[in-house]
Formats: sequence, structure tokens, C-alpha cells
Amino acid sequence: MKATLQIKRGAQGEPQHVETFDVPFEPGQSILDGLRAVRRDTDPTLAFRFACINANACKECMMLIDGKVDYACTVRLKEGVTTLAPLPKKTLVRDLVTEIAPPDERLHGKS
Ligand code: FES
Repeated sequence: MKATLQIKRGAQGEPQHVETFDVPFEPGQSILDGLRAVRRDTDPTLAFRFACINANACKECMMLIDGKVDYACTVRLKEGVTTLAPLPKKTLVRDLVTEIAPPDERLHGKS
């Protein structure tokens, strides 16, 4: 099976553009698995972030998936095109990476 990932790319302050990658997948694999395949096999410069892989615990893999905020490690790859973009309300770092609050800010909040 093959999935197509259309990924919005670019670094902070640069114009963003969309790049398309085809990745092979087995049913049950996640978007994050697809992104890791792209980075391993096609483009090692693709930027995205993850820590827990699929526990939905670290929240570092949050991005826009088909226009909705979701976790790349829990959404499944599908046949056909999936669009991926960085979170729109966070400061862009590069590609799918945005500035997210460090863990202790998340725990204590900012009041
Ligand atoms: S990688 Fe941790 S929530 Fe997705």
C-alpha cells in the first residue's frame, strides 16, 4: 500500500512551500511512521518532532493533519493524499516543528 504525504515546508521567515512524498505502509502504521520513513529513505532534512512514538503522551507530534489539529503518532496512514502542516497558532521553527511550551511551563502554566 502507498500513502502520499503533502507536507508544508519552510523555515521561520522563509516562504513556505508544499512537497509531496510517497511512502509505503502497512495497515495500522501512523502518520509519524510515514514521516520517519521519509526522513530515513528520502529526505533527512525533513523536520518534525516526537518523543513518545505512540503513547499520545508527549504531545510533541501535534500538527495539522488534513486541516485538523491532531497527533501524528495516533492518526493512521491511509491510501491517497494526506496533507500535513505545522500548527497555525504557534511560532514556526521549520517544516512541521513549532515552538511548543517546555514541559515545566505546561505543568505550571503562565498566570
Ligand atoms: S509522539 Fe508523543 S504524543 Fe505523539
